[in-house]
Amino acid sequence: MKSSREQQKGAPKAGNEERPRRPAQIAHVVIKSARYTDSVDWYSRLFQAEIAWSNPRITFLAYDEEHHRIAIINGEGSAAPKVGEVAGFDHIAFAYEELSDLLSVYVRLKNEGIEPVRSINHGMTTSLYYLDPDGNRVELQVDNFEKAEAAAYMDTDPDDLVRRFDAGEPVAELLSPRPRGAVS
Ligand SMILES: [Fe+2]
Repeated sequence: MKSSREQQKGAPKAGNEERPRRPAQIAHVVIKSARYTDSVDWYSRLFQAEIAWSNPRITFLAYDEEHHRIAIINGEGSAAPKVGEVAGFDHIAFAYEELSDLLSVYVRLKNEGIEPVRSINHGMTTSLYYLDPDGNRVELQVDNFEKAEAAAYMDTDPDDLVRRFDAGEPVAELLSPRPRGAVS
């Protein structure tokens, strides 16, 4: 991510947090792979990424303005394969702008023999889950709602449900994933 040194002039001293200092974005994901060549190929195809830098030890992949979004470390012969369920990092989700993007990616990958192991409408997102060569899950998604709608969707008000239930509203309506206040 580029930052302007000009804009940083006059910034408060480090530690003087007059406002929350939060990350601007997730910069990149690094995967140590027991199947280095396969993983470089898989992620390159998944994201239609360019190899920004590569040597026998590590490969940097780029697909947008960032110099690299994905890096693959060669763990062949040194990293133990992932077996079954392990604690820690579970998956990372990549969001597309619109449904047509997600569907186009789905079809392209399917034609290349890469298919999701799970597809689900979470309410907030429509998501496809893929397994990389090491068995890590990668979610490709599109948001179903705007952010405010998603917040409303996550925030179920039980008192509101009681009122609507007592008023005789059909249970199917009460359980509908449609966010409160949304126009049907
Ligand atoms: Fe997710």
